[in-house]
Amino acid sequence: MKPSSVFGFALFLSFSVTSSSSFPPTPFSSNPNPKATPSNLLSLLGPTPHSKPVNPVIARKLFSCLKFLVPFSPTVTASPRYRKLFRTELIAPSRRHENDMIWWPPESVLELARLAVDSGGDPAAVHRLLDPTVIPVPSVEGSNKNRCQLTRTPYGRRFISEELNMYMQFLFELIVDRGPSVGFDVALSRFDLFHGHLFLSRDSGRLGILFHAREYPAYNKQVFPYNMGYCQIGSNVTYDDSMNLRNILWLAPLPDRSTKSWVAPGVLVVLDANPNGIIYRDLIPDYVKIARTIYEDDFGEVAVDVNIFNVGSLSRNYQIFIC
Ligand SMILES: *[C@@H]1O[C@H](CO)[C@@H](O)[C@H](O)[C@H]1NC(C)=O
Repeated sequence: MKPSSVFGFALFLSFSVTSSSSFPPTPFSSNPNPKATPSNLLSLLGPTPHSKPVNPVIARKLFSCLKFLVPFSPTVTASPRYRKLFRTELIAPSRRHENDMIWWPPESVLELARLAVDSGGDPAAVHRLLDPTVIPVPSVEGSNKNRCQLTRTPYGRRFISEELNMYMQFLFELIVDRGPSVGFDVALSRFDLFHGHLFLSRDSGRLGILFHAREYPAYNKQVFPYNMGYCQIGSNVTYDDSMNLRNILWLAPLPDRSTKSWVAPGVLVVLDANPNGIIYRDLIPDYVKIARTIYEDDFGEVAVDVNIFNVGSLSRNYQIFIC
C-alpha cells in the first residue's frame, strides 16, 4: 500500500467488516482500482513464483482478456526434448505436435531463450546469432509501386540457424491457423500480419515477440478516418472490432537462472484489447487507443523486428526478414 492511499485503506477496512469472506489479508486490496502493467502480464505468464505476487484483482482482469492460441500450461509438465525442426513439419497438413512446439520449441530456440536470460536481457545476444549477409527487402504485393517501405530498414538479415528462421515462420503460420479458434481471421499480408517485435523482457530477460496484425486498416471516412501514409494505400483490411485482437504475444520457455532446468513453458496468446477490458484501459496508451496498439518497448528491450513476406509471384513463397 502506498502511504498516500489513506482513502483506499479506509475502504479496505470497511470492506473487511462487511464481507466476512475471502478478502485476502494483503495490501493489494487497499486500492479499489489498481492499474495493470505490462510487467504484470509477463509475470502472470511465467512460473508461479512470478505470478503469485501479482495483485489478484489485476490477475483476474488480465486473464479475462487472454485468448490462448495454445493452451496455457504454466506448470512444467514436460521437459524439452531437444528435437530438431524439419521443414516438412512447417507445412500445415503435416504439421504435428504444434502445442509441443510452443511449449517446448526446438533446440535452437531454447538456446536463444537461455542466451537472452543469461545475458541479462542484452539485445546483442540476439544480434550475434544473425548472419551478417544483408538481403534487400523486395517489393511486397506491389508495395514499392506505392512508395511504401514496410520495414525499418530496406534490407533484412536472417538467423544463422535455419531452424530459428523456420521457427519464426512457424509462429506466423500458427497464428493464422489458430486465429479463428478465438474468433480472429488473420492473413499473412502486408496490410495485416507481417511483423513482430522480438524483445528481451526487462524483468527476467525472457525472450518474446509481440506480433502486430491489422497493421494498415483501410482509410474510411466513417470508421477509420486516419491517413497512415503510403503503406495504407490499397489496403483490404477493414477497421472493425477485430482490431481488438491485433496484439499477439509469444513467449519462449523461461530457463532457470542457476541450473540447466526450465521454469516455464512457451506461450502463444492473443491480448484482447476490447474497450471493456483492462488491457485496453491500462496497457494501451491513450493516443493509440483507436489503433489498439500495445508497444513492444513496454515489455522489454527490442532486439530486432521479425518480418515475413511473400516473395513469390505465382505461387506463394514466404521468407523471413530480420530487420
Ligand atoms: C487481403 O489480401 C491478402 C493478400 O492477397 C489476402 O491473403 C487476404 O485474405 C485479404 N483479406 C481480406 C480481408 O480480403
